Amino acid sequence: MKMKTIFSGIQPSGTITLGNYIGAMKQFTELQEEYDCYFCVVDQHAITVAQDKAELRKNIRSLAALYIACGIDPDKATLFIQSEVPAHAQAGWILQCVTYIGELERMTQFKDKSHGREAVSAGLLTYPPLMAADILLYGTDLVPVGEDQKQHLELARNLAERFNKKYNDIFTVPEVRIPKVGARVMSLQDPLKKMSKSDENKKAFITLLDDPKVIEKKIKSAVTDSDGIVRFDRDEKPGVSNLLSIYSILEGTPIAELEERYDGKGYGDFKGDLAKVVVDVIKPIQDRYYELIDSEELDDILDRGAEKANRTAGKMLKKMEKAMGLGRKERKKR
Ligand code: TYM
Repeated sequence: MKMKTIFSGIQPSGTITLGNYIGAMKQFTELQEEYDCYFCVVDQHAITVAQDKAELRKNIRSLAALYIACGIDPDKATLFIQSEVPAHAQAGWILQCVTYIGELERMTQFKDKSHGREAVSAGLLTYPPLMAADILLYGTDLVPVGEDQKQHLELARNLAERFNKKYNDIFTVPEVRIPKVGARVMSLQDPLKKMSKSDENKKAFITLLDDPKVIEKKIKSAVTDSDGIVRFDRDEKPGVSNLLSIYSILEGTPIAELEERYDGKGYGDFKGDLAKVVVDVIKPIQDRYYELIDSEELDDILDRGAEKANRTAGKMLKKMEKAMGLGRKERKKR
């Protein structure tokens, strides 16, 4: 039986956060054992908002190295950079032509990201069909993402079904896979907002490349409440609950057990221990990252990844073009 396929992507719009790690990356490393996985540095998505070009180049390479440092094994999974596989943009265009503007305007992420901005690029609006192209080009069965991508995934499914019905039944309709815990890691400064790498307040998020001392400081200054009890209650105690979730996932300990462990203790002990847990996870990732970042090995991995992705995606793009009647009929091989 054919192994099922997974596709997921992360934007190189800054160093990835603990939210990206818990909501996405951590799942990827577990899934690569059982699925044919494609993991992508989606640089074309990052340019939907203005980027500094030197920073972008740096972030693309850095994210590729972090994928591996977090445990993605290039012998098991295909790791590549989106702009090195032109079929994504080509298929993205085709899918834009089967998407309705109304569908795009309804996307909550578009509403959030365009809100208050003066010059909103057309790309910010038409980004979801590009994301659908990323996924559909690989015949993807399953897409592991955090909760914030659910609506985009719903659109990708609709586009696949619409295309299959209208032109030819070529796409697999992908399922979304959202982790049960940690699908939405919250900001450390405003626990009602999700943790985001583009937050202006740097204390609101932890990146995988933060210095251990900085991590400790950020956790110690995380917003909690004044009752001093370590208890999980998303509505009444969103800050403490967020920290408990992070703790639980990274240490692999049930929340109830943590509540018991900190019964009668204050937030100081709790936060100090959590900082140690976070650093214990992040430190080995950083060590591997610094070995890789300037290495030829990383370039070799990305070259191989792009080659394989180009082969797979190229085939599906041809099918899409044929289904719609684009270009010419293929000539018989002589
Ligand atoms: P991006 O780069 O914003 O985020 C990458 C992944 O991290 C998850 N995530 C979170 N999970 C838990 N808590 C958080 N605070 C948190 N913040 C982010 C996201 O849900 C995502 O899984 N459009 C996508 C990138 C993309 C993609 C794709 C994903 C492009 N093409 C195809 C899957 C398949 C994005 O902007 O993710």
